[in-house]
Amino acid sequence: MRLKARFAGPLSGRARPPGDKSISHRALIFGALAQGQTEVEGLLESEDVKCSAEAARQFGAAVERTGEQRWQVRGAGGFSQPSETIDCGNSGTAVRLLIGAASGYKISARFDGDQSLRKRPMNRIIAPLSQMGARFDTTDNRLPLIVHGGKLKGVAYRSPVSSAQVKSAVLLAGLRAEGETILIEPERSRDHTERMLGVFGADIDMVEIDGGLHPRVRPSELKGANVYVPADPSSAAFPVAAALILGKSEISVADVLVNPLRMGLYETLLEMGAKISYEERRDPVGEPIADLIVRASPLFGVTPPVKRAPSMIDEFPILAVVAAFAEGETRIAGAAELRVKESDRITLMVDGLKACGVDAEELPDGMVIRGRGPKSVRGGAQIRTMGDHRVAMSFLVLGMASKEPVTVDEAEMIATSFPGFVELMTALGADIRPL
Ligand code: S3P
Repeated sequence: MRLKARFAGPLSGRARPPGDKSISHRALIFGALAQGQTEVEGLLESEDVKCSAEAARQFGAAVERTGEQRWQVRGAGGFSQPSETIDCGNSGTAVRLLIGAASGYKISARFDGDQSLRKRPMNRIIAPLSQMGARFDTTDNRLPLIVHGGKLKGVAYRSPVSSAQVKSAVLLAGLRAEGETILIEPERSRDHTERMLGVFGADIDMVEIDGGLHPRVRPSELKGANVYVPADPSSAAFPVAAALILGKSEISVADVLVNPLRMGLYETLLEMGAKISYEERRDPVGEPIADLIVRASPLFGVTPPVKRAPSMIDEFPILAVVAAFAEGETRIAGAAELRVKESDRITLMVDGLKACGVDAEELPDGMVIRGRGPKSVRGGAQIRTMGDHRVAMSFLVLGMASKEPVTVDEAEMIATSFPGFVELMTALGADIRPL
């Protein structure tokens, strides 16, 4: 299905985006590893997260949907031998966390995924997990692969990339490894695993190494826990961006996760001149939450610091769109990881922006966008998304504020992270329809 977005005037009203994807995966996977009952409220019921739910069942947990966005997991206190391949669909988080968790058990599990996931690098987890004692059957360090788990030993692993998926895979393996396991990364990536492992009763703390704080786990049994999933700031980014670039808009986006390690886009938008305020800050469940009030704003180009990249890694596509409506140059660097996401997001975003008449240029590790202010973007293109949900949503937002409508060549995959995207945007005043 193709979708077309056209200019529809200012946005208004209140929206509550679906639950955070990272927290949703973890709630199901940790629940399956734990002994006893885990109740999840606000789970993101998306294609990606359903892969983790199905995998949890295959590894021996009882997983049940007990109401709208309410799920119950009854874990058996560990993973047992699955009888079939674990299909992780489009989800890097599911596959990397599950492989890490499976490494600690005397089982052999075969993992696979869709065409996009089969292209993504798995060496980043195979290297540390092999050091710990897991064995892998794989042809080129990609899916499909078989992990043979068993007796592991703890490591202090220096990850070359700042990746929460790598960090989580190693920490989950560390729960079953002899001694302690420490994960050192160049810049801190999102810390939902560390926070939630604490809630599930793991022996986890932070240690200072080379002037930075890094997580350490010791062997632990997890106990079932209750998890509340706030709205995903990576999904909230789309209505927020649309309200900023569509003159006279004013919206509120409710119940958003505001974990500082996820807020890079929002910090960058504030630096660009965005009028975003945080209200009703609260922290009911070990993760901070707030309501965001967003008003259309004149914006200026910026160069976000390279160190900020991990805290906005999923938000560069929508930042690139916002930058097209800002005055002046936005330079994104230090974001080479974008090339190994669901697609090569550098090439796809720059190609799509150029097709819409925006002055944009690829860098090896980022991109440059030279914006000409609100109402300057022509649009009028059909965008190639290569099945990437965030590329599709970003260009639909662009189409909402450009002179001519914008079409995306595929839209079903938006449901991997943001089911109900079109309905939520339409309720705020957008005009997005199937072609
Ligand atoms: C995620 C980590 C990030 C992010 C992904 C979710 C997680 O990936 O892009 O959408 O839940 O741990 P990397 O760890 O590869 O940076």
